[in-house]
Amino acid sequence: MCGIVGVMGNDRSVEILINGLKTLEYRGYDSAGIYVNDQDGHDYLVKRQGRIKNLESALTDDIHGKAGIGHTRWATHGEPSEKNAHPHFSNDKRFYLVHNGVIENYEQLKREYLGEVELNSQTDTEVIVQLVAHFVHESHMTTKSAFLKVLRLISNESSYAFVLMDREEPDTLFVAKNKSPLLVGLADGYNLVGSDAISMLKETNRFMEIEDHELVIVKPDRIQIEDFEGQERSRDSFVVDMDADAADKGAYPYYMLKEIDEQPAVMRRIVGQYFDQAGNPQVDEAILDALAKADHLYIIGAGTSYHAGLVGARMIEKYAHIPTTVHISSEFAYDHPMLSEHPFFLFLSQSGETADSRQVLVEVNENHWPSLTMTNVDKSTLSREATYTMLLHAGPEIAVASTKAYTAQIAVEAVLAKALGQFLKHPEADEFDLRSQLGMVANGMQAITDSKDDIEEIASRFLSKTRNAFYIGRAIDWSVSIEAALKLKEISYVQAEGFASGELKHGTIALIEDGTPVIGIITQDKTAGLTRSNLEETVARGANAITIVSRHLAQETDTIIIPDVDDNLTPLLSVVPAQLLAYYTSLGKGYDVDKPRNLAKSVTVM
Ligand code: F6R
Repeated sequence: MCGIVGVMGNDRSVEILINGLKTLEYRGYDSAGIYVNDQDGHDYLVKRQGRIKNLESALTDDIHGKAGIGHTRWATHGEPSEKNAHPHFSNDKRFYLVHNGVIENYEQLKREYLGEVELNSQTDTEVIVQLVAHFVHESHMTTKSAFLKVLRLISNESSYAFVLMDREEPDTLFVAKNKSPLLVGLADGYNLVGSDAISMLKETNRFMEIEDHELVIVKPDRIQIEDFEGQERSRDSFVVDMDADAADKGAYPYYMLKEIDEQPAVMRRIVGQYFDQAGNPQVDEAILDALAKADHLYIIGAGTSYHAGLVGARMIEKYAHIPTTVHISSEFAYDHPMLSEHPFFLFLSQSGETADSRQVLVEVNENHWPSLTMTNVDKSTLSREATYTMLLHAGPEIAVASTKAYTAQIAVEAVLAKALGQFLKHPEADEFDLRSQLGMVANGMQAITDSKDDIEEIASRFLSKTRNAFYIGRAIDWSVSIEAALKLKEISYVQAEGFASGELKHGTIALIEDGTPVIGIITQDKTAGLTRSNLEETVARGANAITIVSRHLAQETDTIIIPDVDDNLTPLLSVVPAQLLAYYTSLGKGYDVDKPRNLAKSVTVM
């Protein structure tokens, strides 16, 4: 994971780096650091363990530069500490490097070339910067040739986004990537690099892609791209139409709460983007055509995105009649089922950068199978590398715990299911009035988020002191249970499990004891009675039952009642109280809701 930034040719370098790092903190927050050079013989390296704010408070007024690099870390090799924080440097303090990724063969490189060299950290990254210095000194190479040589020595399984600086060539950033995300930002009279577009959005909205195995030389007034054989490559720039303020927390105490509250607006935006005036879904015909030729749809995702796939698959089967299965990307990449003759792959990814999902896409592309990425981030890796893209239009999601991207993914999957069903002339797809249903969903979400106080009270009464909890449900409610449990565990550290309610009595009910919270999700006529019976079975063993129930199924004793919507879309509403329960449990325990321990938002290592 980790976030990296670089700037070339601006006196505000320190400010630019810190602003960029703050927006990248979602990628890791074990430590942070910057290296700046004033191109006048002075340079500064500052690193701190922990959050960007620790780094920021260590910066004194005399620290300034015209160019620099910065890093926020999610530890892979070596514990979180100041020593292991980036930028790493060569022993002669000439070369400075920030890195996102994992160098698989760093031990071997260290043994082969750096036997005598004393290392300052336990990281794979330091080996790379020491190697650059080694080749410059021992083989009298230029920095560029030494860097290129090191890039060629790094095994192909490794992942990296590198920005290297040489204090003797301070008007150049040496940049390269393989598998890890990195973009160039083109500003007025100076240039930038960053792990994502948002990290540079305060400075520019014009960007240039970097492909794997390219060396990019960033100067204040030009960008030069070449392959590892030294062949120059030309590249067009592109504009990202996003407001820098969209990534601002505003008056909210945490991004997560802001993002939960934004969900009604996201639903309305999706309606605006994907429907015409007559209520017909607007999906690129090439996507529908390619999907119509498929005999099986494989949905690939990780974590919350995988959970959104579980909901979407039902709609695609129901309206488009194409067999659809959902797979965890980190499993599918190494152990996939026998594939059908004409597969189509749908990648779900908020960030569009998840390494496990990308690993699957690499194989998909090697086999020339068609693919579609649904992502929140335009021009992200999974978007660029898939055949087609559908955007989620959820706006930047910053909190580590995903909320609005989950509901946006389900809504856009619904659009695809309806559009494909209509394309294939299935009458039930015509009858599915998705546009007005999404309007009702938006209103329903608003009603739920308006009743935050009640949900906060439930969280404090039932969840604040418990060590474990269960969400249970059947069918589509089970899919939401898994997502609801993930939300609770990742930010409040309650050991929560989402369970198929009928399966409880086959073993897991042994875990129920006095006071264990069991939250039943009940939104479907067909399974409501059964889930209620299963809930009763836990109450008989001491559980505290909580219910999230659709209005038409509600009983007097129910805890949280949600508005009625189409049966396929109930997850869009039933998940919202679960998101709020997780939020208030975490808040009540005094945790940093947006940045739970051990996690990073964009998981770019496998
Ligand atoms: C949980 C969460 C993660 C992500 C997962 C995949 O709240 O956010 O489980 O869903 O890491 O990330 P994307 O969707 O960016 O591929």
